[in-house]
Amino acid sequence: MNKKIAVLSGDGIGPEVTHQAVQVLESVADRFGHQFIFEEALIGACAIDQTGDPFPQDTEQVCRNADAILFGAIGHPKYDNDPSAKVRPEQGLLAMRKKLGLYANVRPVTSYEALEDKSPLKNEIVHGTDFVVFRELTGGIYFGEPRGRTENGATAFDTCVYSRHEIERIAHQAFQAAQKRGKHLTLVDKANVLATSRLWREVVKSMAAGYPDVELDFMFVDNAAMKIILNPGFFDVILTENMFGDIITDEASVLAGSLGMLPSASTGDSYALYEPIHGSYPEAAGKNIANPVGAILSAAMLLEYSFDMLEESAAIREAVAASITEGIVTSDIDASSTYGTTEVGAHIISLLKSSVSLKS
Ligand code: IPM
Ligand code: MN
Repeated sequence: MNKKIAVLSGDGIGPEVTHQAVQVLESVADRFGHQFIFEEALIGACAIDQTGDPFPQDTEQVCRNADAILFGAIGHPKYDNDPSAKVRPEQGLLAMRKKLGLYANVRPVTSYEALEDKSPLKNEIVHGTDFVVFRELTGGIYFGEPRGRTENGATAFDTCVYSRHEIERIAHQAFQAAQKRGKHLTLVDKANVLATSRLWREVVKSMAAGYPDVELDFMFVDNAAMKIILNPGFFDVILTENMFGDIITDEASVLAGSLGMLPSASTGDSYALYEPIHGSYPEAAGKNIANPVGAILSAAMLLEYSFDMLEESAAIREAVAASITEGIVTSDIDASSTYGTTEVGAHIISLLKSSVSLKS
């Protein structure tokens, strides 16, 4: 197959981990007889530096012309402690999600047996973790208007808004995912306090009759935050709004061993983007210590979701799992490890090559 992939590496460790993911995709193309054409474009702080815009027009065009988008990370410390900054790197990511209509962010959380000992949580809690979070990505308090400051600057406000339509379209995806998995869907909200959460409950409840084989339950987000690390085995599919999903998936990454492990897909009706859930981790940039696994597993999701290349994506996942079992991991997973980003990436590629040649 011939496919065009937009590559938006972004800031911090983004370029390093994305480079590994691209190498993995190239190796897959080689072995399975595909042709992937990569087109790079700017986003985030590096885009502001070069164009003044965190999501330039050219980048938008590259995304629209591609069959799928691979994204790294954005953010730079020079903006984080400057409340007066008019343009921020994060606006690039948010603008991209909104403009390309990427409303459903899918974040799978799985634990690896070989990493259970490394978790700050007890083995028996982490063991067998396997759930997926459907995080709504283009609504809620991230985008609601009005937002800003009163004239004298003494008061600031954000607005959380959700429409029935925004809830329904991602809820259908979450119900369908549950049907293919453990048939258990948990809506995480704050319906005891928020009007938007009460709408989420009403809408999702009214859809349940269409999915009679799925067991639906509801959980307040504070309780869910506790349950995720006390009894992660309870969860199969979690459906939640934008900000709650942001928060609980960072928390959930502890179950997978490190924030650097988790991939994600952001999909809509026309476009799809794949990115590790971690940020730009500027302290690690250029040091060859960032974990490339989240980016590499994002590439696996890209092949599966956008190109329907199931064998190819499974081969990547198997190579990643084998690499972890062999202890070839970065230092976020194992503090005594001497393997860096490039060594882990190269090892995964070598496993990928040998596994494919064994099969063929
Ligand atoms: C994420 C990130 C972003 C978010 C930031 C960088 C705007 O934390 O993708 O989870 O909050 O959505
Ligand atoms: Mn986040």
